[in-house]
Amino acid sequence: MYVPSVFYQREEGVEVPEGTTLLEAERLAGLVTDAPCGGTGTCGKCQVLVNGKKIRACKMKVRENLNVDTAVSSSSGNAVILTGGFSGSAVLKPGIAVHQIELKKTVPGDKRSDWERLL
Ligand code: FES
Repeated sequence: MYVPSVFYQREEGVEVPEGTTLLEAERLAGLVTDAPCGGTGTCGKCQVLVNGKKIRACKMKVRENLNVDTAVSSSSGNAVILTGGFSGSAVLKPGIAVHQIELKKTVPGDKRSDWERLL
């Protein structure tokens, strides 16, 4: 059985079963991969360079030894999931608040529930 290797820049090659996706190979190589779509091919964050061509790592299956460059921008012009950002300060006005209350002890004969007594 042929076991192709995938070589990443500055990394040793990793042998993977034929048919493994490059995304899975990256993870097997111990690389941290940005793949917020989970490898469904919709976010475009997993792009790598193979033979100078940008491809989505989650969509390419390894069939031969490959040299892969993972230092590629993920801007593909297609759908992209926003994974970061910032916002200005905000004034929060929650609809609930904490109040401390004290209920008097129940007296014999008072059959009201705690809620009824609270009201
Ligand atoms: S992991 Fe999202 S497109 Fe590949």
